[in-house]
Order: sequence, then C-alpha cells, then structure tokens
Amino acid sequence: MKHKISVWVAGIFAVLFSLSTAVKADDLEQGRKLFEGKCARCHGKDGTGNAKMAPNLKVDTDKLNLHRDEVVHKTLFEIETMVDSGDHKMPKYRGKLTDAQIHQVAMYMKQLTGNASAKDETAAPADPAATKKLFEAKCSQCHAKDATGNEKMAKVLKVDAAQVNLTKGAAAEAAVSELVTIVTNGKNKMPSFKAKLTPDQVEQLASYVKGLQGPSAK
Ligand code: HEC
Ligand code: HEC
Repeated sequence: MKHKISVWVAGIFAVLFSLSTAVKADDLEQGRKLFEGKCARCHGKDGTGNAKMAPNLKVDTDKLNLHRDEVVHKTLFEIETMVDSGDHKMPKYRGKLTDAQIHQVAMYMKQLTGNASAKDETAAPADPAATKKLFEAKCSQCHAKDATGNEKMAKVLKVDAAQVNLTKGAAAEAAVSELVTIVTNGKNKMPSFKAKLTPDQVEQLASYVKGLQGPSAK
C-alpha cells in the first residue's frame, strides 16, 4: 500500500514539476537581489534594521527590524500589500516594482525572517502549543491555520487550492515520514525547511499536520 502511494505521489510530482513555470529557487534568488538592492539600506541585509538609517527616518531601529514577532506573523499577502502601498516612512513600490518582483521580494523576506524566529523556538521540546505556534508562524500563510489551505495564497503561488490543503488527498494518504521528507526538502512551490527548522521540529510539525487531518486520515 505504502509503495503504491509513493508511486502515485511520484507521478503527481513529475506532472506538477513539468507544469510549474516559475522555479522557486530562481524566485528566491531574484527576491534576494531585490531585497539587498532596495530594502537593505533601511532594513539591513539580514532584515534586523539598519541602525544608521533610523535617525534619518526619525524612527526607532526596532521599527525597521523585520524579525519582530508582529512582522514575522504577517502573511505573505500582507507583506506584499505593505510593499505595494507603503506606510508612513516605508516607501511604496507600486509602479517601481512589478507585481512579480513584489512577490519575489516578499517571499525572500519571509524566508529571511522566518529563519531567525525558528531558531528561537528550537529549544522547545515536543510541546503541542509550541508546535501549533510554529505551524501558524511557518506554514499557515500557505496552508491556513487549520491546514485546509489558504486559497488566496494558492492563487499567488499559481497552484491549485487542493495542493495547499493538507487535510485531504496526497497529504492525508501519506505517512508522517513522507511528510517529513517533503517539509525537509520542499516540493515545487513548497519551500524547503532544511535550513530553517531542526529535524525534531519538522517531525513535530508532520505529526501536528496528521493530527489536524482528523481520525479518518491515517
Ligand atoms: C527608506 C527606508 C525604507 C526602505 C528602502 C524600505 N523600507 Fe520597509 N519600512 C521602513 C519603515 C520606516 C517602516 C516602518 C513603517 C512605519 O512607519 O510604521 C517599514 C516597514 C516595513 C514593513 C512592515 C513592518 C511592520 O512593522 O509591520 C515591511 C514588511 C517592510 N517595511 C518591508 C520592506 C521591503 C520588502 C522593502 C524593499 C522592497 C522595504 N521595506 C524598503 C523603511 C523602509
Ligand atoms: C510559501 C508557501 C508555503 C509554505 C510557507 C509552506 N508550504 Fe507546504 N506546500 C506549499 C505548496 C504550494 C505545496 C504543494 C506542492 C506541490 O504539490 O507541488 C505544499 C505541500 C506541502 C506538503 C505536501 C502535501 C502533499 O501533497 O503531500 C506538506 C506535508 C506541507 N506542504 C507541509 C508544510 C509545512 C509543515 C509547512 C511549514 C513548516 C509548510 N508546508 C510551509 C506551499 C507552502
């Protein structure tokens, strides 16, 4: 049974891979260039805020720190809106960057800032509340808090809403170990979390996802 599923998953993987136009790694690389070119002078290359720039802008350096909890918890969509429209001293990039570039830079920023907060949570053992928080911080922007998928995000990523629904289909059929592999290595538009989460955290998240799938799923 397990063999059949993995063949099936591999088949879907092959089809999706050939259909996917935008390559995630490329997007992130473009995002990195954009971030370092446009955003780093105020937010710092690592996103923690450029302390030298803060007095010029008459803001606290902390305002420029994109690793703050409230910023880290923003959805990709909210970040894109912020970059598109600006806010107070934060410049607006509408007309200066294309929608695709705004998406790339926001994706990159999410990766960059998600990174730091994951490390803070590394110490936490298999604590269900911590895992829930981790899922909500790292995964819910695409998969929704209840793992049924964020349709808005699916549109942004140009994938089918069913693909980001982790409570049905392939994700429900898969074993915890298979979910671990996907979260670790990524899959098409699904980012790899190898560098961002510890193996323990990935394992906990995979079990957490299984839990959200309810009793009918294996
Ligand atoms: C000229 C300096 C400057 C540049 C360049 C800049 N920002 Fe900002 N950014 C700010 C300031 C100042 C704030 C705080 C906004 C406020 O006044 O509340 C901010 C806020 C933000 C926030 C919201 C943080 C929060 O508190 O919710 C995000 C997200 C953000 N910037 C992303 C970016 C990205 C991505 C880029 C590059 C495309 C960028 N910024 C370029 C100055 C800048
Ligand atoms: C930037 C958006 C994004 C983020 C963030 C994200 N995912 Fe995904 N994820 C996707 C997409 C898109 C797919 C569908 C990939 C495919 O099938 O091509 C996916 C697929 C998956 C799958 C496989 C589902 C299947 O079909 O078997 C699992 C499991 C998963 N994600 C778990 C997670 C976990 C856990 C996190 C947080 C650590 C996470 N994802 C964060 C976008 C994301």
